[in-house]
Amino acid sequence: MTTTNYEGLQSVIWHDDKLDLLDQRLLPEEIVYLPLVTKEDVWEAIRHLKVRGAPAIGIAAAYGVALGSRSAESAEAWLADVRQAAEYLATSRPTAVNLFWALDRMKARAEALASEGHSLEALKQALLDEAIAIQSEDEETNRMIGEHALSLFQDDIGVLTHCNAGGLATAKYGTALAPFYLAKERGMNIRVFADETRPVLQGARLTAFELQQAGVDVTLICDNMAGHVMSKGWVNAVIVGTDRVAANGDVANKIGTYSVAVLAKAHGIPFYVACPLSTIDLNTPTGAEIPIEERNAEEITEGFGKRTAPQGVKVYNPAFDITPNEYVTAIITEKGIIEAPFDVNLKKLFES
Ligand code: MRU
Repeated sequence: MTTTNYEGLQSVIWHDDKLDLLDQRLLPEEIVYLPLVTKEDVWEAIRHLKVRGAPAIGIAAAYGVALGSRSAESAEAWLADVRQAAEYLATSRPTAVNLFWALDRMKARAEALASEGHSLEALKQALLDEAIAIQSEDEETNRMIGEHALSLFQDDIGVLTHCNAGGLATAKYGTALAPFYLAKERGMNIRVFADETRPVLQGARLTAFELQQAGVDVTLICDNMAGHVMSKGWVNAVIVGTDRVAANGDVANKIGTYSVAVLAKAHGIPFYVACPLSTIDLNTPTGAEIPIEERNAEEITEGFGKRTAPQGVKVYNPAFDITPNEYVTAIITEKGIIEAPFDVNLKKLFES
């Protein structure tokens, strides 16, 4: 399905017994929804960045489990299919922990349901309802993250962001971009600087696009301009999303985030990370243990179809980097604003 309606674009829509997925590779030029009907369709969409952003990946994968188990003909076969779909979808991308969180939640729900003796149709419907719940909870969570983040910002300031942690990366609002939407609703003026985010340009193609559509004051810059813009005094804060926060507060996010954090520290600018609790991974002690995805050389040498490097040149293309916790001013979650010591304070989040 192709549309020209930009209003309230959603990355993932469950509709008419299938998953309509906004193909984010085509933005901002084309708005195309792809109908996904199998777990293989979902795996492929995640791997090839048709859907991307940690929470949106988790949401899509949850629907993938429901799709991958819907043709089972007995309760036993259904549970086996759920487990198999979860294992398979877990191989789509390695870094965003929301993927594994959503798959574990779907598996746990299926196991609980299976022990309750429901009809096969009821089992399938209840599992689909769990995926729908993951999506709608994400929207509510992001609004709360936005409220907490906005409490850190004043009217008429400049804020820099990297990559896309907006509505397109989540069910709605985004994490790092949520405060900008709330500020707009409340008549506040925040000037956003969006790094273009080489090599796949999530900042240019997605962040600049969704903020511009919403009427937020956004200025696009190349990644290598962030220091210059900070030195001009135009940036009062940095806010980014994350794919995984380790137990000690080290943060994995889109490649280039670490450089932005170092620059922020050099300029005395606070560096905030916004994420739901589902992105915090207490089982990973530090950033050193977070798996960093490496992607194709072609993203760098011939991104978007134009060759910009010599044939055969050696390429290193990590999709994420680790920002050590000492660069992080605070982590903003739906449960509030967490400051150092992160090892102690992140743990407390899960105790209350
Ligand atoms: O490779 P991507 O586009 O999936 O990377 C996305 C990011 O790095 C986001 O900042 C992160 O997932 C947070 S999204 C709320």
